[in-house]
Amino acid sequence: MLSGKNILIGITGGIAAYKICELIRMYKRANANVRVVCTPNALNFVTKLTLQNLSQNEVGIEEFNTDNYKPEHISYADEADIMVIAPATANTIGKIANGICDNLLTSVACAFKKPMIICPAMNCGMWDNTFVQNNISKLSENGVYILEPDEGFLACGYNGKGRLCDLEKIFKQTEEILNKEQKLFGKKIVITAGGTIEQIDTVRYISNYSSGKMGIALADAAYNMGADVILISTVNTQKPYGVISVKSAIDMQQAVENEFDNTDCIIMAAAVADFRATEIADYKMKKTDNTETITIELVKNPDILQSLCKKKKQVLVSSAGNETLSKAPVIVGFCAESENLINNAKDKISKKGCDYLIANDISRKDIGFSSDYNEVSILKKDGTIKHLERASKQEIAYKIFEEIYG
Ligand code: PMT
Repeated sequence: MLSGKNILIGITGGIAAYKICELIRMYKRANANVRVVCTPNALNFVTKLTLQNLSQNEVGIEEFNTDNYKPEHISYADEADIMVIAPATANTIGKIANGICDNLLTSVACAFKKPMIICPAMNCGMWDNTFVQNNISKLSENGVYILEPDEGFLACGYNGKGRLCDLEKIFKQTEEILNKEQKLFGKKIVITAGGTIEQIDTVRYISNYSSGKMGIALADAAYNMGADVILISTVNTQKPYGVISVKSAIDMQQAVENEFDNTDCIIMAAAVADFRATEIADYKMKKTDNTETITIELVKNPDILQSLCKKKKQVLVSSAGNETLSKAPVIVGFCAESENLINNAKDKISKKGCDYLIANDISRKDIGFSSDYNEVSILKKDGTIKHLERASKQEIAYKIFEEIYG
């Protein structure tokens, strides 16, 4: 599965650096092309010559190489299909999480737009440090794969969590990511995320508790599987794929409809407000001494999902018997219910007319709104239902694409 793939290994200055010699051999045995970049400190633990011989490539250390016309960090980043940083020290993790580029490895990581695996290894006290954990969460939330360290006897003499994870695990994860990547190659996928923001006046709005995590996890997964991704989001986020920022349901509808024509799949994970204020005051509404109650009139928002399904039907009817028929997007809705989940979801899929409906129970605190986890039932328009047990939103996202694209 790795044959012909370009793997870029980043080695930082930790004792586990010596183990990476074997990882290079594993990738080479699988016929991958391996390039290595090191921080200067990594060379305290392993020699350049060893890495060069094993990878059969020159090893990158210096950021400013006067022999090369192309900036090194860009060429390393351009050529690789995946970047694996192992071992990753707390220092390098902190720099990457905060966009600091003070050596070749961190500059390559900053310019890298494809899947990245980070395998931390350090003293257990350092691993438990709040700032290190915050940096790890930041990277993970931004689509970087983190292979957490194992527990055990550490080189520094402590027993605890900090050992570089098994090389076999790094190898398998690399295969899995590059294999997944093939699946959506050439497909354009549009995903909505977050709760819509319906303004009342210049400082107040109506919204809901959607954090955007589910939609963003889907967008990350689609991107890592090779898709051309557009995320239409009410939550600000920076991604290596296209992000369109929107606020209200009307903005979201406009943005989704603009993308409809050349898209293979549209997933509505956003929590769209059903109503908006009939009129938005263009000033801050004032209270007076005798104001005890106010009434805000609400008007129904358009149902974006339903109108997409209608549009798809029209495309299918008008192009019957024609090649373009297969070009109508697969339309996937979500269904947020606090009771009678499956029965309500069955009604919703037939009412809205989408191809798939992902039902989740929003009454539970351990899944759904704002949680890092979800548990869903995938309803298909042919009436079949598949249940996915509770897992991280990232895992659920991959499984949803597996269900749609096999
Ligand atoms: O963002 P997180 O914190 O990660 O939480 C994830 C989630 C719980 C928001 C997500 O998993 C989810 O359930 N999203 C759909 C929420 C929702 O609006 O559900 P609904 O059952 O009210 O709507 C059904 C479908 O119609 C949804 O796909 C929704 O996007 C769409 N809709 C709803 C109303 C409307 N006016 N237009 C729409 O397109």
